[in-house]
Amino acid sequence: MGWGSMDVALCCIIALCLVHVSLGAKARHFKWEVVYMYRSPDCFEHIVMGINGQFPGPTIRAKAGDTLVIELTNKLHTEGVVIHWHGIRQLGTPWADGTASISQCAINPGETFRYRFKVDRPGTYFYHGHYGMQRSAGLYGSLIVDVADAENEPFHYDGELNLLLSDWWHQSVHEQEVGLSSIPFRWIGEPQSLLINGRGQYNCSMAAKFSNPPIWQCKFRGNEQCAPQILMVKPNKTYRLRIASTTALASLNLAIQGHKMVVVEADGNHVQPFAVNDLDIYSGESYSVLLTTDQDPSMNYWISIGVRAREPKTPRALTILNYSPTSASRIPMSQPPVTPPWNDYNHSKAFTKSIYALMGSPKPPETSNRRIVLLNTQNRVNGFVKWSVNNVSLVLPSTPYLGSLKFGLNNTFDQKSPPDNYDSSYDIMKPAVNQNSTLGSGIYTISLNTTVDVILQNANALAKDVSEIHPWHLHGHDFWVLGYGEGKFKEGDEKTFNLKNPPLRNTAVIFPYGWTALRFVADNPGVWAFHCHIEPHLHMGMGVVFALGVHRVGQIPREALACGSTGNRQN
Ligand code: C2O
Ligand code: CU
Repeated sequence: MGWGSMDVALCCIIALCLVHVSLGAKARHFKWEVVYMYRSPDCFEHIVMGINGQFPGPTIRAKAGDTLVIELTNKLHTEGVVIHWHGIRQLGTPWADGTASISQCAINPGETFRYRFKVDRPGTYFYHGHYGMQRSAGLYGSLIVDVADAENEPFHYDGELNLLLSDWWHQSVHEQEVGLSSIPFRWIGEPQSLLINGRGQYNCSMAAKFSNPPIWQCKFRGNEQCAPQILMVKPNKTYRLRIASTTALASLNLAIQGHKMVVVEADGNHVQPFAVNDLDIYSGESYSVLLTTDQDPSMNYWISIGVRAREPKTPRALTILNYSPTSASRIPMSQPPVTPPWNDYNHSKAFTKSIYALMGSPKPPETSNRRIVLLNTQNRVNGFVKWSVNNVSLVLPSTPYLGSLKFGLNNTFDQKSPPDNYDSSYDIMKPAVNQNSTLGSGIYTISLNTTVDVILQNANALAKDVSEIHPWHLHGHDFWVLGYGEGKFKEGDEKTFNLKNPPLRNTAVIFPYGWTALRFVADNPGVWAFHCHIEPHLHMGMGVVFALGVHRVGQIPREALACGSTGNRQN
């Protein structure tokens, strides 16, 4: 028995209720095995990475204040594995962040690693592989943290639905990796399918043939693995729809026929509620929206998800909002909603800029101690196509930074830090004049408890007139998104920063040829990745590493550092 009311009463008397904050908090234990397995995510059989025979991996459900203990055993035969808990800040446990070469060594085949960390804050999160391109291989799942027992969300809902969005290729991830690292360069192309909770329907143009054959008679007939997940609701209720995107590449837009959505959460933080007809979501982001089932209950409604920001060659994903007791097999009367055209950036910007922190949320410090401007460019290194940040393309060392810094090893990565800025004469509107970049494993050392501004500066890629969207994700901290601008960030632009109610997030996008300004308080000792969440872009070097206060990091479990130069240390 846990904390019964008797115990609570007793403790209130004895300890004057000092234990109040941990009331009901508990440790939740999981034993997971990562495996390759056959699966038909989009009705075509392939191998995927799964956990305990499940794809996507099991959903973790916890309460704020709980401690999660995940014993992860690598059952792959020839490759290492790690899992990152995306959106969990890992306060005080940087070794549990699950980033290979940064926070820990990859777990070898046959070995087990114990992740133990606290989920301190409610919200919609997910987890995924963070070694090579294992996230693209299907290693992901949902992580949902409910409010602690005595707490309430600042909004009401009667039920909840969870959507984990991803994209899927028929080419194996190994082949994708080799293509990206070959001369000539071979791009992975657009995904074959979009998946909702791991299910999609390749080549089953439900949209076109929505009435004949009906949705459930498409190719997936008889194949439960790729049958769309129907969302069952009751009329006249309010549902919280949790939506997270772990796509490898695709930026998405989601629309529900005949229903508005009220956005209330972004990346685990409350936002000032606002209503939309459709919602943009980039890889690494999560949202909660409230949906009121106030439409004709004798009907069902399409949910459609389409690709944004890249010319879509991928059919949209469809599923059905099913008003019970109406039969789930009843096809909606009209065509699925059309998500906005892929290149309607004004639509995307309008959505992104309407996200503000919920009134009363903590405000950012008014000034910062340091500004780091990061120019995002596409380059070449010895003929290989790369992404670079201030002309350095990130390569990860074999010894995890966390161990190197903790033990003062200085021959395990580049000791020279990458620059805080880029050449001011660089023309962001054109391909780089000098396309040669360099590989580097240097890190940004940030003084503990300082406030840092990061300006992400987008630019032209290698091809003329191309500038892409990049969703940047920070580990270990949330940041305030202070603003977005067009063209080059220039001195004085900081006057436009929103210091009143900027949203706190862990992922923010840069639009083509634009900049995005972030501010965070570097108060969580550790070594933290900050990178584009597009899997092939990170693979091609699009990231940086922030290190702060590593001397303040507690005892790192030895198994986290059993490789490279920290391999035989007795810490
Ligand atoms: Cu979800 Cu470093 O990523
Ligand atoms: Cu990118």
